[in-house]
Amino acid sequence: MQVEVLDHPIVASQLSELRALDTPNPRFRTLVSDITRALVFHAARPLPTREIPVTTPMGTTVGVSLASQPLLVPILRAGLGMLPSALDVLPESPTGFVGLRRNEETLTPVVYMNTIPQLNGEPVFLLDPMLATGGSAQVAADIIQTAGAGPITLVSLLAAPEGIAALAQSGTVTRLVTAAIDDHLNDVGYIVPGLGDAGDRQFGDQ
Ligand code: PRP
Ligand code: URA
Repeated sequence: MQVEVLDHPIVASQLSELRALDTPNPRFRTLVSDITRALVFHAARPLPTREIPVTTPMGTTVGVSLASQPLLVPILRAGLGMLPSALDVLPESPTGFVGLRRNEETLTPVVYMNTIPQLNGEPVFLLDPMLATGGSAQVAADIIQTAGAGPITLVSLLAAPEGIAALAQSGTVTRLVTAAIDDHLNDVGYIVPGLGDAGDRQFGDQ
């Protein structure tokens, strides 16, 4: 698995604010959206393009458009907050949903929703703010690969070394694009220093 950390001062400052305990939920959601926009822009760099004719007010030229649109797959719940800005960057992309919740005792993800269509080698951008143990991303990537996906790029705000190692070992995810690799997981599977519970900080403790 290729691992790319987006090293950018604006992203780093937004991430610092995102982590802070006293950042209120509305600001937290805005920051999730802003950082996601930068990450998806970066994730899209290897997408192939095709040439198209363009008529400008001054004449004609050769422009480009994306040769294929990656399928966007937010992992519910927390990945939902990443979807609007991912769609801003890739407005023609289709979206599929995978709903997962970690059992907080066993840390095993339970699937409660799956709308992934039959695929034919299309690239997929999997959206989840947190890569902790890697269990959720692995279950989602398995579902997507079984549906016939091409290369799977996981876009996460934060990643733990333990989750990166687990995903790298399984080989299902081709590439990870993240804003930071944190220090470690604590004994209840939370990323340290992290930002706490990404779902609760966006949508409340439901
Ligand atoms: C969080 C997060 C990831 C998962 C990461 O979701 O959004 O999906 O934990 O942990 P893992 O790498 O150890 O699997 P959670 O299960 O808390 O559900 P939520 O998004 O509904 O809050
Ligand atoms: N899920 C979260 O929301 N935060 C973590 O630190 C780990 C898993």
